[in-house]
Amino acid sequence: MKIHVFETSEQLDQYAAELFIDLIKAKPDAVLGLATGSTPIGIYAKIIEQAKQNNVSFGGVTTYNLDEYVGLPPENDQSYAFYMNQHLFSRIDIPANQTHLPNGMAEDPQAECKRYEAMLEERPADIQLLGLGHNGHIGFNEPDGGLSGPTHVVQLKEETREANARFFASMDHVPTEAFTMGVGSILKANTILLVVRGSDKARIVKEALTGPITTLVPASLLQTHPRVIVLLDREAGRMLE
Ligand code: F6R
Repeated sequence: MKIHVFETSEQLDQYAAELFIDLIKAKPDAVLGLATGSTPIGIYAKIIEQAKQNNVSFGGVTTYNLDEYVGLPPENDQSYAFYMNQHLFSRIDIPANQTHLPNGMAEDPQAECKRYEAMLEERPADIQLLGLGHNGHIGFNEPDGGLSGPTHVVQLKEETREANARFFASMDHVPTEAFTMGVGSILKANTILLVVRGSDKARIVKEALTGPITTLVPASLLQTHPRVIVLLDREAGRMLE
């Protein structure tokens, strides 16, 4: 595991974006595993900037996102499909049919999980971007006595729904379920890029990276992967030696 701590968030974004741009230069048909949330927004902005500056095309790139809410169509501004279009896909030259998220409107959620996992099996990500939840979650894989390996549907915990309620008209509009890649799907990526910012995540960063490997801290399972790159801002890294 390689851990880099950056003085500023901008330096972190720049470094992460360069990793993606360098990969696409070397491998124009790269497969990228992507994430949503607040953590990647600055990275996506830098990727867009660097792609323009260096004339790098995403025409051959394929992407798979970690997760999506069950029941939200891509037009809903809280869906992860909407987020990805807003922050990245509409601003680079990637063909829409090469971008993938679980289909939040799938009629048969179990069949949708199988379909998504089969695509990941066939073309594992060259690099998988991950943020980190305060309780150690990755994707929507929450702390639990056991974890599902492949893509699956999770019941969202009340605390997760409450934390997200501010983005919706009311608590009733917050989805109760989500699709997520499982920890097994995530670990299939060739390289994993874990990005964490902020003092409020310093304790979970230390637990996940240096504590026991346990499903009670899903990100601690990343310790079993041979190629993990961790990018932290100074605040998120403050409890590491
Ligand atoms: C996003 C995702 C989540 C977030 C995590 C951190 O696709 O799967 O695991 O990465 O909740 O969220 P932020 O970045 O908003 O702190």
